[in-house]
Amino acid sequence: MKSPQFPLLTTLVLAAFFSFSWAILPHENFLQCLSLHSNDSSSISKVIFTRKNSSYDSVLDSTLWNLRFNTTNTPKPLVIVKPTQISQIQATIHCSRKHGLQTRTRSGGHDYEGLSFTAKVPFVIIDLSNFRTVDVDVENRVAWVQAGATLGEIYYRIAEKNNSLAFPSAVFHTIGIGGHISGGGIGLLLRKYGTAGDNVVDAQFIDVNGRVIDRKSMGEDLFWAIRGGGGGSFGIVLAWKLSLVSIPANVTVCSVTRVREQNGTELVHQWQYIAHNLPDEVYSTVLVSGVNSTQPGTKTVLAIFNSLFLGTIDEFLPLMEQRFPELGLTRQNCTEMSYIRAIMVNNGMPNQPLEILLNGTSRVPIVSPSYKAKSDYVKEPISISGLNGLFSRLTDDAAAMATLILIPYGGIMDRIPENATPFPHRAGNLYKIFYDVGWLETDNINTQKYLDWARNAYSYMTPFVSKSPREAYINFRDLDIGTNNIGHTSYAKASIWGNKYFKDNFRKLAQVKTMVDPQNFFKHEQSIPLL
Ligand SMILES: Cc1cc2nc3c(=O)[nH]c(=O)nc-3n(C[C@H](O)[C@H](O)[C@H](O)COP(=O)(O)OP(=O)(O)OC[C@H]3O[C@@H](n4cnc5c(N)ncnc54)[C@H](O)[C@@H]3O)c2cc1C
Ligand SMILES: *[C@@H]1O[C@H](CO)[C@@H](O)[C@H](O)[C@H]1NC(C)=O
Ligand SMILES: *[C@@H]1O[C@H](CO)[C@@H](O)[C@H](O)[C@H]1NC(C)=O
Ligand SMILES: *[C@@H]1O[C@H](CO)[C@@H](O)[C@H](O)[C@H]1NC(C)=O
Ligand SMILES: *[C@@H]1O[C@H](CO)[C@@H](O)[C@H](O)[C@H]1NC(C)=O
Ligand SMILES: *[C@@H]1O[C@H](CO)[C@@H](O)[C@H](O)[C@H]1NC(C)=O
Ligand SMILES: *[C@@H]1O[C@H](CO)[C@@H](O)[C@H](O)[C@H]1NC(C)=O
Ligand SMILES: *[C@@H]1O[C@H](CO)[C@@H](O)[C@H](O)[C@H]1NC(C)=O
Ligand SMILES: *[C@@H]1O[C@H](CO)[C@@H](O)[C@H](O)[C@H]1NC(C)=O
Ligand SMILES: *[C@@H]1O[C@H](CO)[C@@H](O)[C@H](O)[C@H]1NC(C)=O
Repeated sequence: MKSPQFPLLTTLVLAAFFSFSWAILPHENFLQCLSLHSNDSSSISKVIFTRKNSSYDSVLDSTLWNLRFNTTNTPKPLVIVKPTQISQIQATIHCSRKHGLQTRTRSGGHDYEGLSFTAKVPFVIIDLSNFRTVDVDVENRVAWVQAGATLGEIYYRIAEKNNSLAFPSAVFHTIGIGGHISGGGIGLLLRKYGTAGDNVVDAQFIDVNGRVIDRKSMGEDLFWAIRGGGGGSFGIVLAWKLSLVSIPANVTVCSVTRVREQNGTELVHQWQYIAHNLPDEVYSTVLVSGVNSTQPGTKTVLAIFNSLFLGTIDEFLPLMEQRFPELGLTRQNCTEMSYIRAIMVNNGMPNQPLEILLNGTSRVPIVSPSYKAKSDYVKEPISISGLNGLFSRLTDDAAAMATLILIPYGGIMDRIPENATPFPHRAGNLYKIFYDVGWLETDNINTQKYLDWARNAYSYMTPFVSKSPREAYINFRDLDIGTNNIGHTSYAKASIWGNKYFKDNFRKLAQVKTMVDPQNFFKHEQSIPLL
């Protein structure tokens, strides 16, 4: 049993001590407030879960993907509100403010540091999983999607209407669109169409006063801030209006693998000069991990070169033969398929029915149970010995489930100004490194070993990556780079992590924050501070 009942004896002893006044817990006042401020108290009670409700654990677990945060020591919410109506969200904001409780908004629950569902202070979760309508308008090439919808649902609903339309965002289908666009959002169409936030044209939003506003009524500064400034700082996004992009009915998906002994490191070294210069229609990524070698008891490093081309195999092969002959890409390494199938392949589910994308509770098979992530930006190619120093760490025991993903930049990313949205990582980046170390839930007791591995690899990389600031991607949230104080955080202290995520956009984010949430109600370990 996960949350053992308080032993009866202890309760009696405590009751004897405090019998003069059975203290009212803060969340009881909060619950009373909710029922008072609801126009329909019977319906709000159906969306409130406390530890006393038998379904509390299953509601909490429903999108608790990173099992690093499924331990008995992980702080849990006093209350989970799973609204079905906007008025219930408004009541939750009002009553949390009144009774001094923090709220954490959860859409898809993928925050790498668990900030949408755990906190070190008493808190309430607003879980948006009932807000998941996806409304695709193919004639106008737009879609209104509610924040709790998953990327899988959105991709499925677009493709079922027109296989030649898509939305540029991440690969893994269980990610929530609410948090994803809040942090920018990058995926296979990055070099052709930019970030998810670059492709949003309107939003429905609730501010700290419970006002429901859209792009026009919120104004361009707040609309700018919510498309990449990070979730949980400004208010609650209820829905996004997405601008859909054109893709061919079939795309080309290719994969080539090389171990270290097949010049894998040399090929990665060359890739650094090539990938960011390829036409916008090519997304060429590399996944690097440690694997058992053919000699028993020894390990090697495997580099998987995956590419997605918005065109045919016949067009792609000569292009790669000209630009990257050393890769030795052949027709056998490539397949033409619809973009939605390419998404399935990249989720590690090549042969499953597409309908699995509608099942928000089905884990992506290639994601490890517990994990920790970090990110870096590379502006100058790294030497072969520099790469070897990183890759050799992948054969450590702690890295058995670690992967490095090299994400190519260039293309349209070089042409969108750094201040177009809060996402500042544009021209001048060759690629991004995504460090992911995973482990089994049953090994959570050794979490420190895996965190140390990631931190040591990151420390080793210091001379090879961006400097002043050492840039990082907010959607790969990493509390190691700095956090706010639980009480008041100064702008200067927050700039330590803020400049890494946002560079010169950080100041404008703080200005918008000061304007829309002057009492800093929406806050967490890395929320935008007041100026
Ligand atoms: C396995 C895995 C793979 C990933 N791959 C990619 C990738 O390829 N590309 C990429 O860009 N990112 C990727 N991410 C990161 C992902 O985009 C972010 O974690 C994103 O914030 C998740 O959104 P969510 O709604 O699922 O998360 P949540 O945990 O629900 O939210 C994340 C943050 O946003 C806040 N928030 C949530 N909903 C709202 C809302 N409606 N309004 C305001 N604030 C809100 C939360 O409070 C929290 O601070 C990946 C994450 C994981 C775990
Ligand atoms: C949780 O328990 C409370 C108190 O018994 C009840 O009022 C509420 O309806 C329950 N919530 C749900 C979702 O059933
Ligand atoms: C979290 O751990 C509990 C207890 O071990 C388990 O019952 C539950 O299924 C786990 N949650 C998830 C999301 O796996
Ligand atoms: C409660 O108010 C919301 C709008 O604030 C409205 O949509 C809803 O229908 C109301 N519910 C009831 C039962 O009156
Ligand atoms: C599908 O979208 C493409 C644009 O990508 C457009 O050319 C085509 O006409 C659309 N087809 C239908 C049936 O709407
Ligand atoms: C790529 O194709 C070659 C044959 O041309 C084959 O030997 C190799 O196994 C293929 N690699 C992958 C990853 O499919
Ligand atoms: C590795 O590169 C060397 C030097 O370029 C070359 O001689 C050798 O054939 C390559 N090995 C493989 C397996 O491609
Ligand atoms: C790798 O080899 C070790 C033994 O050296 C073995 O325990 C492990 O299962 C192997 N892993 C895989 C994926 O084959
Ligand atoms: C897409 O590719 C598949 C598999 O190769 C093929 O069956 C289908 O006819 C192609 N569709 C189009 C529109 O080219
Ligand atoms: C969704 O996936 C889960 C876990 O894989 C499975 O148990 C469940 O039956 C699926 N639901 C549907 C409707 O397919």
